[in-house]
Amino acid sequence: MKSYAPALRHLEARGLRRTRRTVQGPQGPSMQVDGRHLLAFASNDYLGLANHPKIIATAHAALDQYGLGAGASALISGHTEPVAALEQHLARWLGFERVLHFSSGYMANTGILPALLGRHAQVFADALNHACLIDGVRLAGPRSVHIYPHLDLMALEQALASAQEDNRWIVTDAVFSMDGDLAPLPQLLTLADTYDAMLLVDDAHGFGVLGAEGKGSLAHWQISSPRLVYMATLGKAAGVYGAFVGARADLIEWLIQKARTYLFTTGTPPALAAACLASVHCIAQDQFRRDQLQRLGLQLQQGAADLPWTLAPSGTAIHPLLLGDNQTVLQVAQALLAQGIWVPGIRPPTVPKGTGRLRISLSALHTASHIEQLLQALHTIARTLAPPQPTPASS
Ligand SMILES: Cc1ncc(COP(=O)(O)O)c(C=O)c1O
Repeated sequence: MKSYAPALRHLEARGLRRTRRTVQGPQGPSMQVDGRHLLAFASNDYLGLANHPKIIATAHAALDQYGLGAGASALISGHTEPVAALEQHLARWLGFERVLHFSSGYMANTGILPALLGRHAQVFADALNHACLIDGVRLAGPRSVHIYPHLDLMALEQALASAQEDNRWIVTDAVFSMDGDLAPLPQLLTLADTYDAMLLVDDAHGFGVLGAEGKGSLAHWQISSPRLVYMATLGKAAGVYGAFVGARADLIEWLIQKARTYLFTTGTPPALAAACLASVHCIAQDQFRRDQLQRLGLQLQQGAADLPWTLAPSGTAIHPLLLGDNQTVLQVAQALLAQGIWVPGIRPPTVPKGTGRLRISLSALHTASHIEQLLQALHTIARTLAPPQPTPASS
């Protein structure tokens, strides 16, 4: 019988073993975790909607009306009124011909890529794409996959110029999940037009945060095109769970026929879909949440300028503090925890080797004093870990 214990010990020795913490209450800036109160910068609940009373009340009402489970897959008997209403609203609001709801972002990406690509496709993917885009491409098994260096449009264009297959796909995060930086979508779309490619955009971290009314990265860049396939999630800024794909009507109809992660899974619980729709209304109405995120981000960026580590510039809710090796990441994350602050340390394989970091994620519910507390703790830790070098004695 195979034992996994040696491999686990090997992970441990390299500082790569992951552990879970049990959260004992709702999401929020202050969280009860493993019996302790922590100031948390760990959640993707960027707008602070995961515990919003109006959204919760909507879910309660939908539970009373529809019960719990969807009972079957969407094509059997699990396509429910709240899911249909959510899809229709998203399509109208975001300006897509049609929208298809998926259970999660991971399931969306691992379903749509195999359905759309086929063996004769050629994929051009950013090197820092999220794991579920990578897995979706792997599952699709296209003839050729070209990984271009992060955001390197020249390298991408060179590869597109020598493309062999007719079915070409540029695949990218819109906001990179561990870096918080943006893909230059207008330029990517121009390349897609020039080289007759489709552009699949994963906006898991832009939807709700960027663009007018929080409509996401396409609104931020003010682009639209029949070449675009847009995937966004409902478990991050929307604070609930699920995902959706927006695109041309023919393409969405094809996904309904062929996306295996849509066809062969139980439909989403209707109350979740009802909660998502309520959340989308909040996203559109509550500009003050995005304004607060911007203010907090600025405060963090300014306050971190004299740390011995680099806080990558970011206009989103994700602010990575680059620490390098795994042990430093663990040390700083532990030292913060000792001060009651939770910031997840991110190590390979989630990020490339040697680029370990703390992923500081902000929520509109954080306050200026929360940011101040984090900055003070980081400065204290920096002094302890890297004491100032003594000035050499003058001869
Ligand atoms: C860029 C990106 N895409 C997709 C996903 C997956 O979304 P979900 O959590 O809804 O499965 C994530 C989640 O971390 C993500 O960061």
